[in-house]
Amino acid sequence: MSNLWKRKPLDQLLHAEVVSEEHPHSLKKTLGPGSLVALGIGAIIGAGLFVRTAAAAAYNAGPSVTLAFIVAAVGCAFAGLCYAEFASMIPIAGSAYTYSYATLGELVAWIIGWDLVLEYAIGAATVGIAWSEYLNKLLEFLPGHHTIPFEWCHSPFEKLRDASGVVIAHGMMNIPAVCIVGALTLLLIRGMKESAFVNGLIVITKVTIVILLIILGWSYIDPANHTPYIPDATTVKDAEGVTHHFGGIMGILGAAGVVFFAFIGFDAVSTAAQETVNPKKDMPIGILGSLAICTVLYILFAHVLTGIASVADFRTSGKEASVAYAILHHMPGYGWLAKLVTVAILFGFTSVILVMLMGQSRVFFSMSRDGLVPKIFSEVHPKYRTPYKANLLFFGFVGVFAGFVPGDIVGDMTSIGTLFAFVLVCIGVWVLRVRDPNAPRQFRTPLVPLVPILGIIVNAAMIFGLGWPNWMRLGIWLAIGLVIYFGYGAKHSKVHET
Ligand code: ALA
Repeated sequence: MSNLWKRKPLDQLLHAEVVSEEHPHSLKKTLGPGSLVALGIGAIIGAGLFVRTAAAAAYNAGPSVTLAFIVAAVGCAFAGLCYAEFASMIPIAGSAYTYSYATLGELVAWIIGWDLVLEYAIGAATVGIAWSEYLNKLLEFLPGHHTIPFEWCHSPFEKLRDASGVVIAHGMMNIPAVCIVGALTLLLIRGMKESAFVNGLIVITKVTIVILLIILGWSYIDPANHTPYIPDATTVKDAEGVTHHFGGIMGILGAAGVVFFAFIGFDAVSTAAQETVNPKKDMPIGILGSLAICTVLYILFAHVLTGIASVADFRTSGKEASVAYAILHHMPGYGWLAKLVTVAILFGFTSVILVMLMGQSRVFFSMSRDGLVPKIFSEVHPKYRTPYKANLLFFGFVGVFAGFVPGDIVGDMTSIGTLFAFVLVCIGVWVLRVRDPNAPRQFRTPLVPLVPILGIIVNAAMIFGLGWPNWMRLGIWLAIGLVIYFGYGAKHSKVHET
């Protein structure tokens, strides 16, 4: 059993042959604080803002979703500072899985690696479903207005109702969501990487439309939609019959768990520690800077969105492609903005899905090299030098969730999985300070153990706010993971051989 806590020796980590797009030994220290902030913003603005904001307003917090963004940002800031210390201790590019294997041992690394499937793979499915909503909106704008029939762009758990509540269509499969995930999988297999130029362009586009909506939408805010700003605590049922806490503190906490999705990806900044000129100074600026900028944009955006359209809108006809809906129905004369926003959002979502699919195959690539999951996940294409089998297998996995599960469910699964990983990282940094206080750290989390403890409390509070169906899903996922670990991973681990 002591093997469970065996740590991966650092030199083994450093000399491990790493394929795919990254060459850790040749990483150049070129990033300054500005590029780190841009990297963070590029990775995070996506479906969380353009889709989950309306969902959280509809079923959790109403206009006080703005406060939920603050709670989520605070949780991320504490966890982000812990991530940065972790990342700076392991001098190769990597994820929480790699850091924890070297520092906390195999079992914790396994739990984090397995949990990251929720963040990356299920997250990719969530953004794929959001992409499908906005694709339909785009088709509505094109001549002929030929949209995809409800059956073929919704999961079997979703129903379309008419104004009187009568069911008029049932979802069968979300085909566009599966197709976008499939197309991006093929791109990844070819080894196509977004160039820094394209990434920069997408960042500028995303930030521009957020700012445009804030400025142009401000004068269309209807104070009635903001009254009361924090609704009284009650419960509401969504279209699928699931009950949610609405209003009050529980509403805000639940909404924080939902919109937490909008911050996922900022940890990408910490993975660039080795490419940073002065990590000690630049890392906190990169992490906290991108978080701060996004938080301000998110709060203003949510304030305007919930002011333009009502909670009732977001529960009914404005449930999907909510931003385009709000503009079209409540900002007369701004049809062009709705179209621009729709196209920009489709591009923005595409880059987020790509990053998530790539992150997923990288984590499993490392786990496979370590023997914790089968070799197939690290087999590399002879020509393209990419882990193509892993990409294809994950396409199957992500495709099932994208095609057959509602966006709200996969979105909350992504949030809870990532929140759990954040809690583990906060615990890990604290444990290491006690156990290994003198290990070299290029960046030190300030005020340990206060910052990790606050990180644990705030992120655990959001897990609490997400409610028991999500706790159950997380519990089942982790239980499946442990069965696989003890049935396979623990027996095949390479670290045990050394
Ligand atoms: N933060 C990313 C998004 O909102 C995952 O799409």
